[in-house]
Amino acid sequence: MKKTVIITGGTTGIGKATAIAFGKKGYNVVVTSRIANKESEIVADIKITGAEAAFYQLDVTDEQAVAKCIDHVVTRFGKLDTIVNNAGIALGAALLADSESEDLKQMLDTNVMGVFYGMKYAIKAMLKTGGGSIVNLASIAGANGLLYTAPYCASKHAVVGLTKGSAIDYATHGIRINAIAPGAIKTDIIQGAIDTGAYSEESIAAIHPMMRLGDAEDIANGIVFLSSDDCLFMTGTILFVDGGYNAK
Ligand code: NAI
Repeated sequence: MKKTVIITGGTTGIGKATAIAFGKKGYNVVVTSRIANKESEIVADIKITGAEAAFYQLDVTDEQAVAKCIDHVVTRFGKLDTIVNNAGIALGAALLADSESEDLKQMLDTNVMGVFYGMKYAIKAMLKTGGGSIVNLASIAGANGLLYTAPYCASKHAVVGLTKGSAIDYATHGIRINAIAPGAIKTDIIQGAIDTGAYSEESIAAIHPMMRLGDAEDIANGIVFLSSDDCLFMTGTILFVDGGYNAK
C-alpha cells in the first residue's frame, strides 16, 4: 500500500519543496493551505512526479477543521502515515519591549496550537491504523535566542517541547515524532523579515558558519528522511539543517 503524507501550509517555500520530495518517493501527497488560489498549481507540480496529489483548504488554527481534514484523508487513502506540521508565521522584528503583544498571540495560535492540533488528530488516526511518523517545523530559533525575535523564538521552543514530550508518550505505540530545525532558508518568511528593514540577506547569511542561506530542498530532504524507515530508532530528535549555526 502506498504511504500517505499531509503537509500543512504546503503551497509555498519549505512546504512546497517537501510535497515534491515526497511525491518523488512515491507517496500520496496531501497539501493543505489557508488559501485555495495555488491549488491547481501545486497539485500539477506534485503529479509531475507521478504521485497522487490532493489539496485541502485548511486554517491550522481551526481545531475542528484540522480534525475533519485528517478524517477525510484517512477515508480517501485508507491511512495516514506521516504529517508534516509545516504551517507557520513570523511576525514583527523588534526588541521584546517594542514587540506587539498581538503578534505573539497570533504566532502561538499558528505555530504552537496549529502544530498541536495536527499532532493530536494525526496521532488519533495513526493509533487506529498501526502507527506513523510526525515531523514538526522547529527552527534554530527553537533552541537559541535570536536578535529581535523573542516572540517567534518562544513559539518555536514550544514546538520543540511538543515534539520531545509526545515522542516519549508514543515511543512504544509505533509513532515516531521528530522535528527539523532549519537555519535561515530563502522563502517568503525570510523575505518578510528582510522587508521589515531590521535585517539584510547578508546579515542573516553571516550568522551561519557557511555564510549563506539554505534552500527549501535542503529542509525537504531532512523531513523525508525523518519520516522514512531509514531512521526507525529516531524519535524526539531535533534535526538541525542550519549551515553550521548550532555548532557554534
Ligand atoms: P512560507 O511563508 O513560505 O511558508 C509558511 C506557510 O504556512 C505558508 O504557505 C502560509 O500560507 C502557511 N500558513 C501560515 N499560517 C497558516 C494557517 N493558520 N493555516 C494554514 N497555513 C498557514 O515560509 P517557510 O519558510 O516555507 O516556512 C515553513 C515553516 O518553516 C514555518 O513553520 C517556519 O516557521 C519554518 N522555518 C522557516 C525558516 C526559514 O528561514 N524560512 C527557518 C526555520 C523555520
